[in-house]
Amino acid sequence: MFSANIKNTLTVFVGSAKGGVGKSTVTLGLAKAFKKRGFSVGVIDADIHGPSLLTLANFEGRHVFNSAKKIVPLLHDNIQYVSIEAIVPKHEAIAWRGVMAGRAIAQFLKDVEFSPLDIILIDLPPGTGDIHLAVCQQTDPKGAILVSTPDQVAINDTIRFYNFLKRMSIDVFGIIYNMVHLSCPSCHHSINLFDNAQLSGLNELKILHKLSWSKDLSSDFDHIIQELCHHDHFSKFCIS
Ligand SMILES: Nc1ncnc2c1ncn2[C@@H]1O[C@H](COP(=O)(O)OP(=O)(O)OP(=O)(O)O)[C@@H](O)[C@H]1O
Ligand SMILES: [Mg+2]
Repeated sequence: MFSANIKNTLTVFVGSAKGGVGKSTVTLGLAKAFKKRGFSVGVIDADIHGPSLLTLANFEGRHVFNSAKKIVPLLHDNIQYVSIEAIVPKHEAIAWRGVMAGRAIAQFLKDVEFSPLDIILIDLPPGTGDIHLAVCQQTDPKGAILVSTPDQVAINDTIRFYNFLKRMSIDVFGIIYNMVHLSCPSCHHSINLFDNAQLSGLNELKILHKLSWSKDLSSDFDHIIQELCHHDHFSKFCIS
């Protein structure tokens, strides 16, 4: 278990077994929205093979160790970041086998020391393998937010991830559909980016939001927090 004063910290996964659907974008958007509400937020980029959170957050940095030999998260815009990207040389290809990658992330998470936090969001890589198992064991999340594009290929992978979470006894707070539509910059007509008429398989999940293809999604993340607030675990994050 990573150390910090995490007793009262809500730990939440953001994931989908599908790559490129917006998991990191959602993690970062939510982190900023929680911070804007005055909460202390930590994010973990658990993607050993393709870390991207620092790039998305538009900064660089290297982790240092404190006097207790623990990894100090990077503080940027008042959010604490932890990423393998801040340990390995830039653009280095990590060619570890699954078991080794799992052990590495477990050790890495064990060695991190956050300052006190209200919430930690963990951005998971695609798939359901050793890294996911290791992160589950190491972090004890209270639940997960799923992210998928509204097409059957992505949804099928997201169902796999959902089933993996069930096997790990991890609750799901709901699903965010991403890149659902695009507003035409000239006529503002809304264009569906996927043929999402007949999707099946995740109907039992609460839809937290449908994100459009856009450069500025900040108000959408405020809306998602309002939706999450209906869940007991998020009650302290609600605006009364
Ligand atoms: N709603 C959106 N509008 C515009 N661009 C988006 C949106 N969602 C994601 N993107 C962009 O799409 C790309 C993929 O998104 P992101 O990295 O968040 O996906 P991911 O699921 O984390 O991918 P990976 O599986 O590689 O970790 C990024 O360049 C991101 O900026
Ligand atoms: Mg990602």
